[in-house]
Amino acid sequence: MTDFEYSLDVLILGGGAGGLGVALELPQGVSIGVLSKGALDQGATNWAQGGIAAAIGDDDSFASHIADTVNAGAGLNDPHVVRFAVEQGPAIIAWLESLDMEITRETEGPRRGLPHLTREGGHSHRRVVHAADATGRAVQACLERAVRARHDVRLFENHVAIDCINRPDPGTGRLRCVGVYALDCADGHVKLFRAKVVVLATGGASRVYLHTTNPPGATGDGIAMAWRAGCRVANMEFTQFHPSCLISDSRSVFLISEAVRGEGGHLLLPDGTRFMERFDARAELAPRDVVARAIDHEMKRFGIESVGLDISHRGADFIKSHFPTLHARCLEFGYDMTAGPVPVVPAAHYTCGGVMTDLAGRTDRDGLYAVGECTFTGLHGANRLASNSLLECLVFARAAGRDIAAHLGDIGTPGDIAPWDESWVRDSDEEVVLSHNWAELRRFMWDYVGIVRTTKRLERARHRADLLKAEIGDYYANFRVSQTLLELRNMADCADLIVRSALARHESRGLHYILDYPDPLPTGARDTVLDPAAGVSGEA
Ligand code: FAD
Ligand code: SIN
Repeated sequence: MTDFEYSLDVLILGGGAGGLGVALELPQGVSIGVLSKGALDQGATNWAQGGIAAAIGDDDSFASHIADTVNAGAGLNDPHVVRFAVEQGPAIIAWLESLDMEITRETEGPRRGLPHLTREGGHSHRRVVHAADATGRAVQACLERAVRARHDVRLFENHVAIDCINRPDPGTGRLRCVGVYALDCADGHVKLFRAKVVVLATGGASRVYLHTTNPPGATGDGIAMAWRAGCRVANMEFTQFHPSCLISDSRSVFLISEAVRGEGGHLLLPDGTRFMERFDARAELAPRDVVARAIDHEMKRFGIESVGLDISHRGADFIKSHFPTLHARCLEFGYDMTAGPVPVVPAAHYTCGGVMTDLAGRTDRDGLYAVGECTFTGLHGANRLASNSLLECLVFARAAGRDIAAHLGDIGTPGDIAPWDESWVRDSDEEVVLSHNWAELRRFMWDYVGIVRTTKRLERARHRADLLKAEIGDYYANFRVSQTLLELRNMADCADLIVRSALARHESRGLHYILDYPDPLPTGARDTVLDPAAGVSGEA
């Protein structure tokens, strides 16, 4: 073995809640590698704000959490999967407590010392366990601490996985994933990682949109890699647009947590009037698809660039203790949450669809698992309920870890694999093509595949996606790979999957709202399943 080649039992792509959750569930003695594009904490997990949903309140129940999840998901959720995830909520919180996660706790009353539960849109109860307004930072910190304490886990930060390597399994004759090629950003070389099992935990694809709450690395790499490796991908039309992202100088800058509305925040028009009651009886606490569409509608109606989000009536002490991070960050941009409304717009936030998996995180390809936001498990249906994502990440990460541990002994070490061959490529002399294509893709996705869609706009987007994919494919075949090129290639594949899925759904449901088909189909709600083997989209 050289510096250009590594051999591991389990290779995990992703250092967020999904990836680290898998690593921690694997037994000591297994050789584990965790790859991340930047530092481990640069994924969406570290950015999460509101919290983790778990039915642990005195008057709460699994039945209620299940009903809220299905209600938000517009009936497209898999009931079996919803129950599986919801019932593990309390155990996930207990596990995080055992890892010493920092959690905001009640300071008085009968629940003194127990987790404080906040409220978010679509939840009928206070159900969201949190660490003030920076829950993700606390989750990432406790998982990272535990992983870094394990000597059998090797961390490969600043490595960008390129593609899965599939080889026929001598026992079954079926194709099996036996590793990945990855670009080491420190020295610019592509390395070979051989592994008995590969886990995709690469997060979502919301960077395909111009306005997003997501970190730079959310370029859908795992979804695109799985698709290219022959795995089915489902429900990619359901991109969740979060209603409240702070806007400054016409740029979306960061998420303003739904917990702000949960704790009484109002959405306001420029004249100071509330408008959400006109759209839904639950007003600001309606599910996200409803709130985001209402804001989009009002912005278009009045020709305004944003709406106001105001929680100043709760008083400065409350705001500074519940939302210390948001308060400080808004001040950096010249907005004081304690004094009046801050300007917000909807922005792409979460990828509800992704790589199809079963309850143990297994994909269609032997040896390839997937967990976290890059997956489609069936939990979210047509719209994810707030704070169900971290829950999903951890439930499925732990299930995948257990399944891998149970089967690892039966899997042989991968045989010889050729190193990455760069003999036919040259250095790029046209980097400008990449930045131009990157900007164009995010713009047309925002304009044509956004909150409100039409068939005509989707077809325009499909045409542009086809052209971009051809151009990027040509670039990939001829030039040395860079992180920008790899991410652009993945974003183009994801954009194509989103557009094709949106065109295949002839109804409006949850996050997919299309003017040509304004109502949900009365019967037979179905997932949109794209199968690379079939080459066409179908529904199953
Ligand atoms: P991530 O945490 O995004 O991690 C992905 C990892 O994969 C990163 O380490 C990245 O470097 C790595 N990676 C990606 N591609 C490659 C590649 N090609 N090669 C190597 N490594 C790669 N959900 C909730 O439930 N509650 C909340 O309060 C909440 N708040 C949120 C607030 C914000 C601002 C955002 C953006 C999201 C929020 N979400 C929330 C959603 C939730 O944070 C994410 O869905 C979840 O953290 C995803 O975890 P993950 O492990 O799947 O991916
Ligand atoms: C938020 O804090 O509003 C984000 C919660 C989520 O995405 O689940």
